[in-house]
Amino acid sequence: MKQPKRYLITSALPYANGLKHLGHLAGAYLPADIYVRYLRSQKRDVVYVCGSDEHGTAIPIQATKEGTTPQAIIDKYHEICKQNFSDLGISFDIYHRTSEKIHHETSKEFFTALNDAGQLEIMESEQYFDEEANSFLADRFIKGTCPNCAYDSAFGDQCEKCGKSLSPDELINPVSTLSGNTPIKKNTKHWYLPLNKHEEFLNNWITKEHAKDWKQNVVGQCKGWIDGGLLPRAVTRDLNWGVNVPLKNASGKVLYVWFDAPIGYISATKQWALDNHKNWEPYWKDNDTQLVHFIGKDNIVFHCIIFPVMLKLHNYILPTNVPANEFMNLEGDKMSTSRNWKIDMQDYIDDFVKKENGGGQCVDMLRYYLTQIAPETKDSEFTWKGFQDAINSELVAVFGNFMNRTFVLMHKLCNGKVPPLHSPIIDEIDKELINKIEQSPKKIATLIEEYKFRDALFEIIDLSRKGNQYMQKKEPWIKAKQVAADGSIDASAQKEIDNCLHICLQLCANISILINPFLPNTSKKMLHLMKVVDKLLDWENAGKLNLLKTGYSLRGPELLFRKIEDEEIKYQLEKLKSNILNSKKMKEEVQQTIQAPTKPVIQFDDFTKLDLRVGTVLACEKVEKADKLLKLTVDLGTEKRTIVSGIALHYKSEELVDKQVVIVANLAPRKMKGIESQGMILTAEDKDGKLRLLKPEEAVQPGSAVS
Ligand code: MF3
Ligand code: ZN
Repeated sequence: MKQPKRYLITSALPYANGLKHLGHLAGAYLPADIYVRYLRSQKRDVVYVCGSDEHGTAIPIQATKEGTTPQAIIDKYHEICKQNFSDLGISFDIYHRTSEKIHHETSKEFFTALNDAGQLEIMESEQYFDEEANSFLADRFIKGTCPNCAYDSAFGDQCEKCGKSLSPDELINPVSTLSGNTPIKKNTKHWYLPLNKHEEFLNNWITKEHAKDWKQNVVGQCKGWIDGGLLPRAVTRDLNWGVNVPLKNASGKVLYVWFDAPIGYISATKQWALDNHKNWEPYWKDNDTQLVHFIGKDNIVFHCIIFPVMLKLHNYILPTNVPANEFMNLEGDKMSTSRNWKIDMQDYIDDFVKKENGGGQCVDMLRYYLTQIAPETKDSEFTWKGFQDAINSELVAVFGNFMNRTFVLMHKLCNGKVPPLHSPIIDEIDKELINKIEQSPKKIATLIEEYKFRDALFEIIDLSRKGNQYMQKKEPWIKAKQVAADGSIDASAQKEIDNCLHICLQLCANISILINPFLPNTSKKMLHLMKVVDKLLDWENAGKLNLLKTGYSLRGPELLFRKIEDEEIKYQLEKLKSNILNSKKMKEEVQQTIQAPTKPVIQFDDFTKLDLRVGTVLACEKVEKADKLLKLTVDLGTEKRTIVSGIALHYKSEELVDKQVVIVANLAPRKMKGIESQGMILTAEDKDGKLRLLKPEEAVQPGSAVS
């Protein structure tokens, strides 16, 4: 196949509304990074873009949750996510933001171009509206029961349980997530992308042209969508957070987040080009560009159906491939942010990477395990035990062990220098390994270019396994026992030792090239031990048997990886359990506060019947034989009152003297523990049941009326 001129690689822009977990990393970022590092090592022209998706209802919802503004949310999570990716070695050429001006402009231009070309349709319809919040209920502002799986908290755009994408009208028993109210319907006008008009194009393009070279799960899902019949899709929303619709008659409307977010790939490319004095246009307009979108399976419809139609209508190139991954489960259950069943990138960084010296080996351990269990064709499963096994019995016992043995023996038996290869005595065992070294790069390259990263990684580990087996057959440590009269190793035995270690060292150098896209820190460390420069890692060097020059002296052995201890695994499992317990508890508490029933409406006259006044506490004592009661004497200006109040568990009697309180002054007197209480003190109850007194913001005259 002819090589494309350039590559534009994208990873899904994560919503800047929270921390991202290892499932995200394994799905859309790590595989893309491996692919990109491989292409770079081939000296291909490649740009890798990503960034924060900062629009849509997810952002204001998170802002409400955290009691802050949408702007504060995106600023916070953009920085954290960017740092997390960088800490784990994801090598974006740019990590952009959809809140940037260049993105707003690019999105508006895109919309305008489609609209001016008559490619959008305007339709009026009745949509759910929350009267209390005075807001239409787009996407995640509305939830209800999923018509597909009966999950009771499905959002207006998607059910997070079964993954089905939804429209608010499909929800059973819809409620507003803004107020909890049942919404009404109200008329509104929106712009639609008539996907129905592009069915034929999509059908030809995906299910015919790409039936073979795209992943089966992707083609299958697209076929399902197309066969089910496509409908016009609204590309605007009644919201005040997003890219404004660039038309006069559209105030209060923004572009649908899934319209503007993929355009984020384009604006990121533009910004990258500006920063690097390059031209962005060929990356989006020249057919000799290979555009590859790495995503999770929940994003397939947007990247294979909606965005391609937009691109085609705008005369931009179409993606060459969309290697979407399935999901990664965790310890037998679906990873979930809402249930707190997940491992955040931040968690791994804190617990492993930051604890190590430099952290590179822990980064690579994670990259290794996540690639080894990548959900490339079906859902996969992260378990801490699996992580430990993969590291200890493969990375440490096979890969690290081979490199370490080679270095130890080379120092012991060859004076720390690359021994010569004595070609006349090469035997079948040598030849077998040499062949393997020569042929592996091609095989691994093909697997990577087919997005089969698991298999490619397996091949590389297998090379080191073959290296170990080779050494086992050659047994240089046994040969070293054949000594000459002067006590040195017998000359012909030494030749065999030389050959064995020469070939093993060339294999080490080869492995450092092949493993580089997957475990870049490990490659770096191998280069350091071999005392060679980065240039060695160019892919074109893979398969060569003269990478390390005879006589060159190398550094002493150092372990590439450490073992994962049982205690670490135990700690992580306990942490997971306590996370989920905490989140259950939190949910119940939130539920309780939300569900504290509001009382029926009263008229103003009802309210004015209450005589609320501020009083000053003159004296206070505990009521005998009553744990909860305090007896207070309160000055109401013209009179003194005795009031019994159930706040003894929350205040000490001496604390209250001289304090001001708000009381209901015209409540019929009531006897408690034999004392007549002549009023009631007002308190607020916190979610944990703690009572706090209400008091005027500044001291007022005792007896002042409250209204
Ligand atoms: N923010 C989306 C998500 O996390 C992904 C957006 S991908 C893009 O599911 F193409 F729209 F950018
Ligand atoms: Zn569902």
